[in-house]
Amino acid sequence: MSFLELARERYSVRSYAAKAVEEEKIAAMLKAAQVSPTAKNGQPQKIYVIKSPEALQKIRSICNYTFNAPLVFMICKDNTLSWKSPYVEGYDSGEMDATIACTHMMLAAKDLGLGSVWVMLFDPAKAKEIFNLPDHIQPVCLLPAGYPADDAKPSPFHQKYRPLEEMVTEL
Ligand SMILES: Cc1cc2nc3c(=O)[nH]c(=O)nc-3n(C[C@H](O)[C@H](O)[C@H](O)COP(=O)(O)O)c2cc1C
Repeated sequence: MSFLELARERYSVRSYAAKAVEEEKIAAMLKAAQVSPTAKNGQPQKIYVIKSPEALQKIRSICNYTFNAPLVFMICKDNTLSWKSPYVEGYDSGEMDATIACTHMMLAAKDLGLGSVWVMLFDPAKAKEIFNLPDHIQPVCLLPAGYPADDAKPSPFHQKYRPLEEMVTEL
């Protein structure tokens, strides 16, 4: 499968089989996060692998969008490692770096025969509290992942693209 085919075929999976994800596949997704590019190679991505029943119950209690996935990655930024912009006051690369890492993981999941869905609709402060995260770690997004259930299918939004002519401007 070409990269573009993989990217097009990936869709947000919102229904998961009960089957656990093998440790090798989890490791491969984490490797994909490790090799992602980061500003000034700061590598501020910090990833929590939520898979114990207790931890899953906690994340499900504060987020309605985990879709009963057997595995949820919580991708965070480490404020002590992110690159600080000299141009924009208070702005750093942490969120960008973390989301590039999450993109790598999402595409790696597809390559490994897994499904995933990017989730932003949760309160990072609550996530911080339930997992007792240190001050310098800021949750950015969640990535529930696992084997798609038999009834999993793309939403009508998938493959509904704005035309490139509208999206792209040549200068
Ligand atoms: C930054 C971001 C935040 C998102 N947040 C959520 C979310 O909180 N809940 C959810 O069900 N899907 C969420 N999604 C998934 C999008 O709705 C989905 O990617 C989009 O509708 C395109 O569909 P597709 O991924 O199936 O191609 C998010 C995606 C991105 C990139």
